[in-house]
Amino acid sequence: MEIKKAIIPLAGLGTRFLPLSLAVPKEFFPLADKPIIQYIVEEVKNSGIKEIVFVLSPRQKTILTYFKKYPDIEKILVKRKKEKALKELKDFEEFFKDIKISFVVQKEPLGDGHAILQAGKLVKDEPVAVSFGDDVVDSDEPAIAQLIEIFKTCSAPVIALKALPKEKLSAYGTVAVEKIAHNLYKIKKIIEKPEPSQISSNLVIVGKYVLTPEVFGYLKKAKPSKKGEIILAEVFAKMLEEGKTIYGYEIRGEWLECGDKSKWLKSFLHMTLKDPRFREEFRQYLKTIK
Ligand code: UTP
Repeated sequence: MEIKKAIIPLAGLGTRFLPLSLAVPKEFFPLADKPIIQYIVEEVKNSGIKEIVFVLSPRQKTILTYFKKYPDIEKILVKRKKEKALKELKDFEEFFKDIKISFVVQKEPLGDGHAILQAGKLVKDEPVAVSFGDDVVDSDEPAIAQLIEIFKTCSAPVIALKALPKEKLSAYGTVAVEKIAHNLYKIKKIIEKPEPSQISSNLVIVGKYVLTPEVFGYLKKAKPSKKGEIILAEVFAKMLEEGKTIYGYEIRGEWLECGDKSKWLKSFLHMTLKDPRFREEFRQYLKTIK
């Protein structure tokens, strides 16, 4: 079955970026000179997705005005002969013109699973891609396209995985797996922030998925956790307990995390130093910093 829609939840509180995230949602922080969300929309679009459903919070509405045409500004740029700026704006508009964008509101930040569930009403009985708003993957083949490729052969939910060094695993959602092909696994168990004795693989969950209607069924039935949230990883755990099959795919590419300050700053530097427009100047500049 073809995957035409992607859900991008943006309604989290972003507590790790307070107070900055009160003014700018973290998905709009830049990597080099583009907001994180633009990399994610590019990834989704280049994966063949035709429609994006953004889940936004009532407080943070920046997304409503970003992927939008600005004829008034274009007019000013034409009048002032700002050709370079005009081209940048036109290229930007061109980039998102073929993709349908819809919005749903998550009234309260009741968890990533709850956010995805809010988008469920725009997704009828069809598999859907999901990307969290703070996980960028820098790769030749877009990460979502890699997951869709796997879904086409297995028709079950697929979770993006990445291998990390042992000492980092305790801060992540990790998995116990059975390897079934190159980079492809059956997930046996999900262990959030594991103790050393619970670690059975070096694979962690990246915020990118293909979800099936069955996952939405489980999300609907899910009871909030102790903190009052519905968490997607916990819903997957429940499905595994009940014998459902979930695949994990170790995606190719560089995972640029943006969920906390130092991760975002590293990802910013990565994209800046990779960009031919900035690379040399920044390399030289970094050498001068004591
Ligand atoms: P995170 O786990 O990073 O949570 O969300 P957060 O609230 O954004 O940030 P912290 O942990 O407080 O610093 C993963 C993804 O799920 C979305 C976020 O916007 C992000 O894309 N999310 C999370 C929601 O849309 N709603 C929620 O209630 C929680």
